[in-house]
Amino acid sequence: MKQLNVGILGLGTVGGGTYSVLTRNAAEITRRTGVEIKVVQVADRNIEHAKAIAGNVDVTDDAFAVVNNPAVGVVVELIGGYTLSRELVLKAIANKKHVVTANKALIALHGNEIFAAAKANNVIVAFEAAVAGGIPIIKALREGLGANRIEWVAGIINGTTNFILTEMREKGLNFSDVLGEAQRLGYAEADPTFDVEGIDAAHKLTIMSAIAFGMPMKFEQAYTEGITKLQQVDIKYAEELGYRVKLLGITKRTDKGVELRVHPTLIPEKRLVANVNGAMNAVVVKGDAVGPTLYYGAGAGAEPTASAVVADLMDVARLIDATSAQRVPYLAFQPDQVQDLPILPIDEVQSAYYLRLRASDKPGVLANVTKILGDREISIDAMMQKEPDENETEADIVILTHITVEKNMNAAITAIESLAEITGKVVRIRMEELAK
Ligand code: HSE
Repeated sequence: MKQLNVGILGLGTVGGGTYSVLTRNAAEITRRTGVEIKVVQVADRNIEHAKAIAGNVDVTDDAFAVVNNPAVGVVVELIGGYTLSRELVLKAIANKKHVVTANKALIALHGNEIFAAAKANNVIVAFEAAVAGGIPIIKALREGLGANRIEWVAGIINGTTNFILTEMREKGLNFSDVLGEAQRLGYAEADPTFDVEGIDAAHKLTIMSAIAFGMPMKFEQAYTEGITKLQQVDIKYAEELGYRVKLLGITKRTDKGVELRVHPTLIPEKRLVANVNGAMNAVVVKGDAVGPTLYYGAGAGAEPTASAVVADLMDVARLIDATSAQRVPYLAFQPDQVQDLPILPIDEVQSAYYLRLRASDKPGVLANVTKILGDREISIDAMMQKEPDENETEADIVILTHITVEKNMNAAITAIESLAEITGKVVRIRMEELAK
């Protein structure tokens, strides 16, 4: 029986889950691959903790000992971050070891460098677990949908923010109240910035975009807006109009370039993806042949993420003796066919919009607002005015628009805010139909 020797860097949540799945399902995995996948060394800063999980395996606190170990054929990087992990992964590749990683930040920021090194050393770098945890979305984009020209991808790819938005909607709570609850339940990190500011989602979106369209990773050009400023009242009004608010990562191919953006988004409540609640993830991929397809599942957690890590190890086990031409390219497209497509600045992106304004309850205010929109060729799709409370002199007006270019909407919002009858800032949330 052939054997694949694995070295794991980091035996935390995902590392522990990976060890456990590999051990528990060893017989089934070997039945599928014809290869025995065996963990021969583990590195973790906490040796006692690692020994408690993987007692029979050689345990070290020196990650470089694993990447330099001649007995290790594939390194599984599960330590996170992008400085030490980059060094370790590049060293493993230079030592002609295959690499499996769950590290979305590493691939989004340094994927281009890592893939070039892997190509030069003829090794595999696999990263299914980096996007949407246990959902096999990389495999779907790269292989299952390989016949299609992919048009767009839109996903709920951060469980923490989806949990927060679900609680805000279901319990009528504010962002800051729910963030505390998410932290208490262990969903959000102690420093939740990457989650709530959309950075984690932008890492994952960058990877999906590169694979969908066959272009380099362009994380620096992703537009990223989180959920920290989202107000309860807008979630409520959106619902009254038949919409749910989700933090979406959206990437679209257009004639002018690629849209690459993460932001809160209104989605019609009748779409399946609008009903993905709690910490779950979901990705919609639109291919020209297949139409829209939906992938749903756990985007984080020990064993869901391990499911993807182990599947990657199984791919390595099957493909280890294949030539590079027989392997699926990292970015789904042949390396010499990867195109440096331009990313559209957010000003040039096209979207529909939800607007909320606070206006004096006087004649002519709505006429002024709709004139500003009309002058900029922004067409109104729906409008709702909330009756002011007894002692209020101002009313909330909510407007849904048809699709327009973001710069036109920015100009309209500036003009609306300068009207004497409008108080404060206009709240703007982008809106996507996700229908075709
Ligand atoms: N912080 C991430 C999330 C974990 O909330 O989805 C998985 O990447």
